[in-house]
Amino acid sequence: MTDEEAVLTRRHLEYIAERTKGDDPFLIELKQAADKADIPHIWISPAQASFMQIILKLHGAKSVIEVGTLAGYSAICMARALPEGGRVRTIELEDKHADFAEEWIAKSDVAGKVEVLRGAGTDVLPKLEVGSADACFLDADKANYPTYLDECLRIMPVGGLVMADNALGFGRILTAPADDPGVSAVRRFNDYMAAKKNVHGVIAPVGDGCWVGVKEA
Ligand code: DHB
Ligand code: MG
Repeated sequence: MTDEEAVLTRRHLEYIAERTKGDDPFLIELKQAADKADIPHIWISPAQASFMQIILKLHGAKSVIEVGTLAGYSAICMARALPEGGRVRTIELEDKHADFAEEWIAKSDVAGKVEVLRGAGTDVLPKLEVGSADACFLDADKANYPTYLDECLRIMPVGGLVMADNALGFGRILTAPADDPGVSAVRRFNDYMAAKKNVHGVIAPVGDGCWVGVKEA
């Protein structure tokens, strides 16, 4: 097998994306507005959004915590996968991002289901009650992922669902030098997840690598 044939080349990812539900007009408009507001293009792909929605539906998730709101794209996508009465609490440090996300969440079809919590994940998560979430998605600063994970494991019951973005280190997990701060932080987190005794997890090769795990006893 040559490298070209190896799973997964960029062309395989394009092939998958072409067979996955894309963004609806509302989400396309949200991204255009985010662009105009100079919010960086680092949201999850539509294929990863579908993957996470399917996992959330299979899990029967009702209450999701997200760390790292950015433009609100993933929060809106996740909320769409929840039943009536479901909620996403999404934590955002940057006021500019929180303001943008709140505006677009309010205009969305899931307005009543998503709440933006302002502040650093390390400050906000400790205030959330045990048992108040059954799923989480980590997608903020990579150096704090281990703390975010442990806080979410405190909050969620056994059976709780963990998802974490960028496990493949912005595509550079195998190639970035050891002193690359972003990729090093991802490597540390991946090793931390892999060693966790009470999480059964796997990196799904979706988007930039998406950890999916279940909290065990
Ligand atoms: C970056 C962060 C992300 O969460 C992501 O999905 C892509 C890039 C970044 O910080 O560069
Ligand atoms: Mg990300």
